[in-house]
Amino acid sequence: MIDIFARFYEVRGTMARRRSTAQPDSSSATLLQERPTTPNVPQVLTNGDCNKLFEGDRAGHDWYRFVLSYPPHLVREYLTAFGLGGRQRVLDPFCGTGTTLVECKKLGIDSVGLEANPMAHFASSVKVDWSPEPGRLVRIAERIAGEVLTLLGQEGISDDPLPLFAKNHPPDATLRSLPEAANRLLLANSISPLPLHKTLVLLERIKKTGPAECRRHYLLALAKTMVFTSSNLRFGPEVGLGKVKTDAAVVHPWLEGVRGIARDLESLRNSSTAESSVLMADSRSASSALEKESIDAVITSPPYPNEKDYTRTTRLESVILGFINDKEELRALKRNLVRSNTRGVYKGDDDDNWVSSHLEIQGIAEEIETRRLLLGKTSGFERLYGRVAKLYFGGMARHLADLRGVLRPGARLAYVVGDQASYLRVMIRTGEILGRIAQSLGYELVAIDLFRTRLATATREQLREEVVVLRWPGQPRKA
Ligand SMILES: C[S@@+](CC[C@H](N)C(=O)[O-])C[C@H]1O[C@@H](n2cnc3c(N)ncnc32)[C@H](O)[C@@H]1O
Repeated sequence: MIDIFARFYEVRGTMARRRSTAQPDSSSATLLQERPTTPNVPQVLTNGDCNKLFEGDRAGHDWYRFVLSYPPHLVREYLTAFGLGGRQRVLDPFCGTGTTLVECKKLGIDSVGLEANPMAHFASSVKVDWSPEPGRLVRIAERIAGEVLTLLGQEGISDDPLPLFAKNHPPDATLRSLPEAANRLLLANSISPLPLHKTLVLLERIKKTGPAECRRHYLLALAKTMVFTSSNLRFGPEVGLGKVKTDAAVVHPWLEGVRGIARDLESLRNSSTAESSVLMADSRSASSALEKESIDAVITSPPYPNEKDYTRTTRLESVILGFINDKEELRALKRNLVRSNTRGVYKGDDDDNWVSSHLEIQGIAEEIETRRLLLGKTSGFERLYGRVAKLYFGGMARHLADLRGVLRPGARLAYVVGDQASYLRVMIRTGEILGRIAQSLGYELVAIDLFRTRLATATREQLREEVVVLRWPGQPRKA
């Protein structure tokens, strides 16, 4: 195991401070944590640095990430602490854009991810596919870019948004656009008509002429370009609109993105024989997707009960790439997610049954409801606040209960979660509650480590983001 880590990192750090010793940091600038040493990754991190993707970690991770991603160094820390390596297998049941999986692959450790959002599932699947030949990936992308620039040029459209280069482009009505049902899923003005047109022309070209072994990497580069360069979106951390720009480059940044992927592939391609796979599945029924006792460790970050609609984070690229085409498909996707916001609650949801005798969670739901009545809040969403807290923890209980069957006895688990006060400022100590739920299901609670603190905008309090560390001892023997 040491050999595997020594290939990439000289491991010097220990696990972050434990709950018993770590205190929430009121200044938020001075929280220091020791980390394993990696080139271009600071050894000592301030609270503000904790969630960053450092230069030395970019390869493979940076192809596409979202605001919900956690940093590779955090994954590495727990891989080290759990002593993982060799043919052991790590699971990320909420794998998002695949940070755990990419980091495992870099370290030669087998891994598997579960993800219920098709865009995130696509992104993580591509990020662990290091098979394309880098030179060919770039050559074909250059050819596609050239063809698209010619096509756009014939329409009087330049890829350069500077006024100097912009010509009199055709009227909006003649530009390509999305079908109405798909367009309705987008935040208004997410992307302006001209960059959308360019994106759709490039997308069609990739689909028509990109060879199968390169196409998924091209599409992922396009997803990153459309969100971070061509759109009007801003993440902070909620998705909102930034400055609405009438034009933006698409083809050139896309090609740059592909070149970046190719550079990473150059260094990563032959560096790992580890197996990685990503399954499109609901982690509350992980056992229907994974073999019995096949997992040695879990490193993950599930949703938090924070009223965030996680599907909004990936909405633009999900719609343009065709992963979600209308309201029904969006609803079907949301049904497979742990309930963490009132926009994802449906008639017939019953995960709350899993925590009906959990007094602390029932108490939190009652406190939210009492405060709602006191404040005279009467909207449909506000009426659901108490219920969503129960559904959230119920969903996590269901997940942890089901997971037991796929874990090898002695498996170690790390769940990164954050305290929340999004529901009428009622404090939800997510990590502590999750730890107690896990204990009630037979897991051992090893520690609750402080990862970082965040300022709650509503209460101006520092909220803890923590890592709940568990151990699965195996099923108790029947007498
Ligand atoms: C906080 S994000 C994980 C981010 C990830 N650690 C990364 O670095 O990109 C949580 C993810 O869980 C997914 N998710 C929520 N409920 C799920 C469920 N029941 N089954 C599988 N995935 C789920 C969401 O779609 C989201 O991508």
